[in-house]
Amino acid sequence: MKNDIVNDIRRRVDIVDIIGERIPLIARGKNFFGVCPFHNDSNPSMCVSREKQIYTCFSCHATGNVYTFLENYEHWDFRETLKYLGDLVGIDVGYANYQKREGKFDKIYEAYRIALKYYQNNLASSVGREAKVYLNNRKIDDEVIKEFEIGLSLSNNDLTKLLEKKDYTLLELNKCGLSSDNRDIYHDRIMFPLYDINGKIVAFSGRIYKNNDQNKYLNTKETDVFKKGHMLYHYHIAREVARSEKCVIIMEGFMDVIRASTIGVHNTIALMGTALTQEQIQLIKRLSSNIILCLDGDDPGQAATLQAGELFLKEKIEVKVIVLPENDDPDSFILREGEERFRSLVENAIYFSNYKIRSLRRNTNLQNDKEKAFYIDKVLEETAEISDEIRVEIILKNLAKEFDIGYNTLEMRFREKKEKKEKPSSFITFTNQVIKEKTKYVKAVENLIYFMLTYDWVITETKGKHLIFPEEKYRITMNEIFYYYEKYGIITIADFYTYALDKQCVKEVLDEVLRENRESVVTAVLLEELYKAIRENSLNLEINRLKKKIEEELDPLEQARLAEQIRKLRIGD
Ligand code: GTP
Ligand code: MN
Repeated sequence: MKNDIVNDIRRRVDIVDIIGERIPLIARGKNFFGVCPFHNDSNPSMCVSREKQIYTCFSCHATGNVYTFLENYEHWDFRETLKYLGDLVGIDVGYANYQKREGKFDKIYEAYRIALKYYQNNLASSVGREAKVYLNNRKIDDEVIKEFEIGLSLSNNDLTKLLEKKDYTLLELNKCGLSSDNRDIYHDRIMFPLYDINGKIVAFSGRIYKNNDQNKYLNTKETDVFKKGHMLYHYHIAREVARSEKCVIIMEGFMDVIRASTIGVHNTIALMGTALTQEQIQLIKRLSSNIILCLDGDDPGQAATLQAGELFLKEKIEVKVIVLPENDDPDSFILREGEERFRSLVENAIYFSNYKIRSLRRNTNLQNDKEKAFYIDKVLEETAEISDEIRVEIILKNLAKEFDIGYNTLEMRFREKKEKKEKPSSFITFTNQVIKEKTKYVKAVENLIYFMLTYDWVITETKGKHLIFPEEKYRITMNEIFYYYEKYGIITIADFYTYALDKQCVKEVLDEVLRENRESVVTAVLLEELYKAIRENSLNLEINRLKKKIEEELDPLEQARLAEQIRKLRIGD
């Protein structure tokens, strides 16, 4: 790919907008700060510079420009990223060979498109009447059927035949998970397409609708493009909406999500009956920092709520919880109670720690003093996890009032718990912060590179100095900067970063350079100091080399000559 186009596109977008659309950024001085999505954090340690068009995380040291951000954040490859940004600014990146990369799975995707059309057709035609009645009874009307691309599989094996006609081999059919041994996998089920995080159909889930005793839902087996633990139903839509709604709601089933959409609540995703995985947590974290669990009201739903809430707490996120009546899931609740009631549940979602305290309380016999003491102790323990001091005070005050205990007594006990909690974590932070101290020389080189990428004139100035860098990575980086500047006549950190992406050692050097906060103003004096530190380093290396030679040398005359050479080097001759 031509570097010109890459940088042309980069210059037309603003990294602050691109990142800001994905994670909340707060302006502070010249820069913007947000919670880094590339490690587990809750502090805004990622700095985004509009001026330099780069981002740097001061905690995990992730750094780069708009391309690297999108690649890592969206899990796109470079071409996808380029295409996305190109579309954004109206530049056609014209990939004739773009399709080829994806070609590996094209046939699977195509099979799902064919299947989708086939299933949709069935439902729309007269053979779909009974299924239609079932759906309509469940208040799923034609509009919803269309929106969620709902279809129907029949009792025959027509899909297999259809795909065979389109040149699918037996092996390919088997790979898709729609057919096996010349028979359709799905028979007489209402078919829901499942989408990946980008909205592509990667599987189906089929629901029984006549009285038969098979499993309620049947999902397509895992394939190259469908990994259950990596997907979340409705994610691609929720991603668009969660930003403006400033929250995302997690439900158990896709029927719940579909129901919510009928009352205009679109910032929802469904877990699809599996326990939350780390991948899913990372995906959800990206949507919003305000995450609401709205699982089924039954016992399994409550157990799942406790489990999911804990997993998020480990990520330093306290989710909120909507508690549904015992026999409800979001679907049935919305159907019976309507939009306003549901929205009010969302508004009044409680913090997970409060939810935990509530469920603890339900299981405690408060008439029993021993159980009561245990309950209070446990509440204090949970409260010690909360960082919001106002909330802590409210909980403690309520507890004191309810059980008629002195506030100070409770507070003291609370502090003890809190201190116990904090000790191990402060130790971890300490050990993590042991960073290898860089030598004066390395610091000088890094600063010099930074200045060269910030001020053109430093490049010209440095070129005339004929500095010696014993390390290959610095030599290559310097030469690449000279080369780039000569060729393009202008250099910025962000552009050069793109250019260096496929040059591993240059990229490593740049990552180091961008990792730290650096002086932004260069003076002639400062520059001279850098040159001096770099020269001293090569001088010392040369002297050490000569010293070693003297030791190995047997001829006294030659030894004297080398000693003289060292002396001359020392006085700077
Ligand atoms: P309805 O009964 O149609 O209202 O669905 P629901 O959304 O109430 O489903 P439920 O709460 O029982 O389950 C939640 C999710 O778990 C569903 O969306 C499915 O993805 C999954 N699930 C439920 N039953 C089964 C099953 O028998 N097999 C599989 N593979 N998944 C299931
Ligand atoms: Mn249901």
